[in-house]
Amino acid sequence: METMSQRKVKTEIELVDEKSIDMGIIRKAGRILREGGLVAFPTETVYGLGADALDADAAKKIYAAKGRPSDNPLIVHICRIEDLYGIVTEVTQAAKLLAEAFWPGPLTMILNKSENVPYQTTGGMDTVAVRMPSNKIALALIKEGGGYIAAPSANTSGRSSPTLAEHVYEDMDGRIPLILDGGAVGIGIESTIIDLTEKKPVILRPGYITPRMLSKVIGEVAVDPGILAEGSGQKPKAPGMKYKHYAPNADLVLVEGEPDKVIAKINGLAKINIAEGKQVGIIGAQETVANYKQGMVVSIGERRNEEMIAHNLYKILRQFDKSGVDVIYSESFETPGLGQAIMNRLWKAAGYQIMEAK
Ligand code: TXA
Ligand code: MG
Repeated sequence: METMSQRKVKTEIELVDEKSIDMGIIRKAGRILREGGLVAFPTETVYGLGADALDADAAKKIYAAKGRPSDNPLIVHICRIEDLYGIVTEVTQAAKLLAEAFWPGPLTMILNKSENVPYQTTGGMDTVAVRMPSNKIALALIKEGGGYIAAPSANTSGRSSPTLAEHVYEDMDGRIPLILDGGAVGIGIESTIIDLTEKKPVILRPGYITPRMLSKVIGEVAVDPGILAEGSGQKPKAPGMKYKHYAPNADLVLVEGEPDKVIAKINGLAKINIAEGKQVGIIGAQETVANYKQGMVVSIGERRNEEMIAHNLYKILRQFDKSGVDVIYSESFETPGLGQAIMNRLWKAAGYQIMEAK
């Protein structure tokens, strides 16, 4: 029995400034990792929950702390490109090119794992997901922690990924000894995942690095049909993409269609719900929020600023959890670059409840 993980630990939060990193704190955190413990830390995408990726028991603690199904593999984080050679059977030409182009940064590559990566880390798979983040706190911690740090997003399984240390604390208080608070993350949605173990590279999770950016470096890339809206009938290839995810407590419904019709539809639905005594939340773009007169209305940012939309998404979903609304209506944000990544998260958060405004 995992008695250790059931006993409550005191969760410490240490402030770390990415511009002037206190190495004393990083060494303390690194020691916890090397001794098989867990530390949450900021990356440029979302906060991660770290453990020694080469220590099967440490990896198991991650699953316990998150309440994550054990068949859902973890991403191994490294702090030098050459460390990739230590955990995969072969660094393919595509992997070399992509690492040069996008590391350190928000790209995760899947390659065939070598023997020293335990199956506990890869959820039983013969492949391993690897990423070198660009956040300097993350890089320093990975180095001090032994060089190979498994880190899923530091949320309870099913909830939105944390973009602030407070979000991590909400989910992990009493479960882990230390959170490094490096402030708000930059990107706000998780890394792009590309599978390089098949003949043709396949994107398993859309993210900040878009298909266009990838194909400029390695030519044609496919997108796993399972990650697009439901109805594709396909099971996603990344085991984690099949689970309910990022879901707010309230019922989230996406409303798609022409802007005027979307506004009218959301206003109509909100009116009915409010008459029923329900609390309603609305997520709109900066350009349209003034059209919503009822409910708790939140702007996710200007439509042309898609980085801002990605950055705000999870924070807004968590704010609605705190406010206790019963139902949330959201506009859809199919922006040109990051739209696929943003909508992938929103579809999942909504459990694929999508309405067409006619
Ligand atoms: O931005 C990120 O990638 C963040 C930060 C902390 O680095 N991490 C993150 O990890 O999002 P996680 O565990 O929340 O999501 C990892 C995803 C899951 O959907 C998992 O199924 C998939 O990656 N994955 C991991 N290893 C895989 C493998 N060998 N084959 C297929 N999918 C894999
Ligand atoms: Mg996650």
